[in-house]
Amino acid sequence: MNDHLNEAVSSAPAKVILFGEHFVIYKNPAIVTAINKRIKVHAQVNDNMQISIKSGEYSLNVRTTSKVDPVLAPDESLSFLYPIFKCVKHVLSEQNNHNVGINLDVDSQIPYGEGLGSSAASCVATVAALYSLFSYRDRDRIYGTAKTMEENIHMNSSGIDCYVSTFGGIVNYEPDRGFSKIGIKKNFSLLIGTTGVKHATGEVVSQVRHFREKNITLFKDLSSRARMICKRALNSMLEGNEVELGNLLTENHKLLTLLGVSHPMIEKLIGRCLDNGALGAKLTGAGRGGAIIALIPSESRKEISDRISKGSEKWMLVEFDHNGVAFG
Ligand code: PMV
Repeated sequence: MNDHLNEAVSSAPAKVILFGEHFVIYKNPAIVTAINKRIKVHAQVNDNMQISIKSGEYSLNVRTTSKVDPVLAPDESLSFLYPIFKCVKHVLSEQNNHNVGINLDVDSQIPYGEGLGSSAASCVATVAALYSLFSYRDRDRIYGTAKTMEENIHMNSSGIDCYVSTFGGIVNYEPDRGFSKIGIKKNFSLLIGTTGVKHATGEVVSQVRHFREKNITLFKDLSSRARMICKRALNSMLEGNEVELGNLLTENHKLLTLLGVSHPMIEKLIGRCLDNGALGAKLTGAGRGGAIIALIPSESRKEISDRISKGSEKWMLVEFDHNGVAFG
């Protein structure tokens, strides 16, 4: 191997889409934030020419010289390790290092397959850890490589998840202006509820495409309402107006329901939040399962989130993350 360190550690945050999912595909804006749930990757060079990835009880071992990807079926529970494997392969080959191996220990706080950006965060953290072995810590380069990997793994990836995971903060995406960070006066508290229903983003996206083809005028109207919501949300964040922001989350959710991407479990969790003091709530990501987010009033965040999260579902009270990818 070329000049390198023997080990390196990096971590990267999850994301939630606050506003604009689905509509963003049709040239509308979206607002996305990084949250303080992370995936941490510890990379160590080995001399047995294996890529060995371990996460809790799961592991994947492939020889570095192998020309074929590991076959994960029938054990699909391993599929969350696949983006990590692809990133290791890519960086080793980019660095012309085919003859050494890497052990990776992965520790994740991000639920997989719930629309919280676990795949992008695992790409960002893995690329950052591998580049750190070669003493590169350039965020633009990490973002570029992680985005390419995500695009290869998930066709039609917009790159938003990798951007937010690399650079952190709240990001406004406008189709003609790209990404810009939003500076906010106060931090908002979000409660995330996971439905436990895994969704396949591609399938939900194509369901919405059919809906749009059949309901051209309605879709135009919903899109213009979604654009207006993003605009007002931007102002409420800049002003620190959490009551208005909560109302906008619920308004955005109604649009998504009209698109047909909600689910009984999503409605159940949202109802629970709104009946117990949340300022607003919506599904986040593709929908038809996955996760919901609720805005919790900051002056009574503990009391209200405790009240909501008494049920058997899984809840996480989170803050926005302003750091993005971290080293060490
Ligand atoms: O559930 P996720 O994190 O895959 O989010 C999908 C968001 C969509 O707007 C539906 C698709 C996209 O690429 O923006």
